[in-house]
Formats: sequence, structure tokens, C-alpha cells
Amino acid sequence: MKFFLDTANIAEIEEAASWGVLSGVTTNPTLYAREGGKLADFHNHLKRICDIVDGPVSGETVGLTRDEIIREGEELAALAPNLIVKVPTMPEGLAATKALFDKGIKVNMTLCFTVPQAILAARSGAAYVSPFVGRFDDISEDGIDQLSQVVMALDNYDFGHDVEVIAASIRSANHVTQAALMGADIATVPFAVLKNLVKHPLTDRGLEAFLADWEKVKNS
Ligand code: E4P
Repeated sequence: MKFFLDTANIAEIEEAASWGVLSGVTTNPTLYAREGGKLADFHNHLKRICDIVDGPVSGETVGLTRDEIIREGEELAALAPNLIVKVPTMPEGLAATKALFDKGIKVNMTLCFTVPQAILAARSGAAYVSPFVGRFDDISEDGIDQLSQVVMALDNYDFGHDVEVIAASIRSANHVTQAALMGADIATVPFAVLKNLVKHPLTDRGLEAFLADWEKVKNS
């Protein structure tokens, strides 16, 4: 499994990259606004992220018609070679994805919840399909079960181009564990979740014991 960071925060991206575990980033104007960013500067910010990350960086479109999404997608794709255009799952999004695919521009189809949506996304030419886990849990449904159905279904077919599954809307280490066990290609996680993945109480306890023993050895 590869790890993407779901953020617009440069410091978080630089920190995760320094750990050697960062394979990509997914971001959108909402995450950027959370960092105090202004929409007018969103493209410059995406460019900065693309320079830091050695891997795909998904930037989301905000248009609702195919023409708007295609125009925006072309603008985004021109920012950097590793920029992936993030498009919502909807009829206009599928049409735009097909047009962008024909122009050689890679799309990450987002807001994907079901098997038929994922197959349609892959069929329209999406290079990445992002099933959401946590938002199912938010409405008391089993997001992990839904994700596993998408992974299994996409595995049944050859779409004539590479399709990777990004487990999105990931909220916990258990989500990541289950996504890895079912073979999801990528998990995109907030930085707080990534930090938690490194931790375990037994690791902390082992480290404390090691340091205490080391103090004794040093002072003997
Ligand atoms: C990533 O592409 C998605 O936008 C993100 O994972 C959604 O996460 P959320 O459900 O926590 O907003």
C-alpha cells in the first residue's frame, strides 16, 4: 500500500516526505481554505506541493459542467507533470474524464461510494478511483465493507489502462489496516492519522524500558 497525504498544509507534506513514506498528495480548495489560503492563489499553492512531492498530486476541480471541468482540468494539468485532476463522480464528471483521458491527462475520480460508480469511473478513463470510507461510517454504514466491494469488483476487469484504488475519507488506523488487507493500492490520510499509524502503546512502553535500562548501563 502507498500512502498519500490528504492535506494542503506544506509543513505536513514536508514532514511526511522526510519520513520517506510519502507517495502522493490529495487536496482540494476546502483543505486549502482551512490553511487560510485564498482561491486566487490555489493554483500557485498546488504548484508548490507538486515541487515537493515525488509522486501524484490530486487537485480538485470545482466546475459543474463538462466544459468547465475540462477547461479547469487542462489548466491544472499544465501546472506540473505530476498533477492529477480530481473530478467528482457525476455524469458531467464522467464526460470530462473521458475527454481529459483522450488528451492524455490523468484523472482521480472522487466522491465515489459504490461499485457501479467505481466501474463507470474506470470505464470513462480515470487513472485513480477514490471510494470514501469514513463518510459511510458517518451515516452508520460499513465504509470498509463498501471499499472491499469496490476493490474486488475493479479487480475482475481489464479497463485497458491502469486503475488504482485510493481508499479515501480514512479516519483511523483500523481503516488503513483493513484497506491494506483487502489490497487497496493507496490510502490517502490526514497527517494526524499518519502520525497515529506510527504509534503503538507497546512501542512507547518498550522505548521507555529501553531508555531506563540504558540509563542503568551508563551509570554502572
Ligand atoms: C480525498 O480525496 C477526500 O477528499 C478525503 O479523503 C475526504 O475525507 P473526509 O471524508 O474526511 O472529508
